[in-house]
Amino acid sequence: MGVDLFAGLGAAALPPLDRAPRILVFDSGLGGLTVFSELAKALPSASFVYAADDAAFPYGALDDQRLVDRVVAVMERLVAREAPDLVVVACNTASTLALPSLRARFQLTFVGTVPAVKPAVAASTSGLVSVLATPGTVRREHTRAMVDAFAKGAEVTLVGSPKLAGYAEGELRGEPASDADIAAEIAPCFVEREGRRTDAVALACTHFPLLTKRFAAVAPWPVAWIDPAPAIARRVLALVGSLSPKQGEPARALFTSGDARPSGLSTALRLRGIGCVGNEVFPLS
Ligand code: DGL
Repeated sequence: MGVDLFAGLGAAALPPLDRAPRILVFDSGLGGLTVFSELAKALPSASFVYAADDAAFPYGALDDQRLVDRVVAVMERLVAREAPDLVVVACNTASTLALPSLRARFQLTFVGTVPAVKPAVAASTSGLVSVLATPGTVRREHTRAMVDAFAKGAEVTLVGSPKLAGYAEGELRGEPASDADIAAEIAPCFVEREGRRTDAVALACTHFPLLTKRFAAVAPWPVAWIDPAPAIARRVLALVGSLSPKQGEPARALFTSGDARPSGLSTALRLRGIGCVGNEVFPLS
């Protein structure tokens, strides 16, 4: 991508380890799998635990204080249980709000996921760029600040979709949304002004890259869909320092709802190299 997504976002590099690093990848649901896949490619010997706070999904619908409290409380449990060396908060909705609280609470390296405004602007020639996110991410001051800092003359349209994260979950479970429903959610991203058209859309929710093919199929015209996952993986690799010569444990997944999971989901997890699924049950009160 050639643009540093993480400039100014401080995260401490790991001290050298004599074993494979333990990396916790956290999201409200299945969207963080888009980040996990890139991480697993970049760090094939690391031990990964994928944790989904599906009891509280969707995070985009929680008010700010509730979301911060929830993320910190779930993280308490996960950190105590898994003792990670580094945590990837593979969720824009949580990262844009809760990272300062997480960094204050835990002596751990956190890597977050923030809207890829900078790479989207760099990819645009028309100067019309959209950021597609959850309503929570669109509301955040942090998101507005990123637009102010990185728009560099481009016109950035923020689009908050309340439904797409759920559609992405459905897609992975084998219950896809209709083309018309998907087209309606992405329609506000497509802006035409004085002969120019939006030509880059930042996917600012980790669920959305699960739907990129569906988006492309119903889009009114072609655009670059910007997925920050490869940049996040490069960032984590840089913080880990080097690839461990020792092979870690096989990847596992944990869910907070304890609900029965459809076979389509187990297949989707297995395809991504996650064979073992467990629960850390923590209902949303
Ligand atoms: N995957 C999350 C993100 O990146 C959001 C989904 C949700 O609303 O829980 O923003």
